[in-house]
Amino acid sequence: MIIVRDFSRELVKHSPFASGESSLDRWLKEQSGQQDRRNGVRTFLAADEAAVRVAGYYSTVTYELTPEDAGETFGRIPRYPVPAVLLARLAVDRSYQGSGIGRLLLFDALARLERNSHDIGFELVVVDALHEDAACFYLKYGFRRFLDHELKLYMTTKDLRATFAADLT
Ligand SMILES: CC(C)(COP(=O)(O)OP(=O)(O)OC[C@H]1O[C@@H](n2cnc3c(N)ncnc32)[C@H](O)[C@@H]1OP(=O)(O)O)[C@@H](O)C(=O)NCCC(=O)NCCS
Repeated sequence: MIIVRDFSRELVKHSPFASGESSLDRWLKEQSGQQDRRNGVRTFLAADEAAVRVAGYYSTVTYELTPEDAGETFGRIPRYPVPAVLLARLAVDRSYQGSGIGRLLLFDALARLERNSHDIGFELVVVDALHEDAACFYLKYGFRRFLDHELKLYMTTKDLRATFAADLT
């Protein structure tokens, strides 16, 4: 059974992990523990309980959109940077891809952010897709492209709340 759980350094240490994107694999192995300890980046794991290994992960971090970037997309230049959350990484190990774990992780992230949005102010959830395939994955679930950044996508907190308010996962 696959469950989404809090970060575990031990589980990461003992898991082979190869998503096909070496930068995402390396980050999990080499950076996630340190970032978790420092409270800089939060990482959540899709754990295969039977195999005792990581099947996938995502991480989130605070983010600010420049007034210029926000202005080009929303039609007005705000006076201040726009507070956001960055869904910084999302990856599934190759041997688990195509079985719904990417969707499980994305929905877990969005439901979690919806809950957090009641306590912490942010206007957008932002994703930097690594390539067009990944962008298509996010578009499928309601993200929209920034006008002049093809691989940068967002979901407004308003839409997040409308879609993920009552745990619809
Ligand atoms: C992109 C990724 C996270 C998808 O995870 P996954 O577990 O294979 O995806 P799922 O099985 O949950 O698929 C959910 C849906 O998304 C679609 N999908 C999956 N990968 C997709 C892709 N690359 N492009 C477009 N759609 C995709 C599936 O067809 C499925 O749709 P369906 O329910 O209508 O059949 C995974 O392929 C991955 O880790 N890739 C390498 C790392 C990467 O590129 N991460 C994104 C970084 S921005």
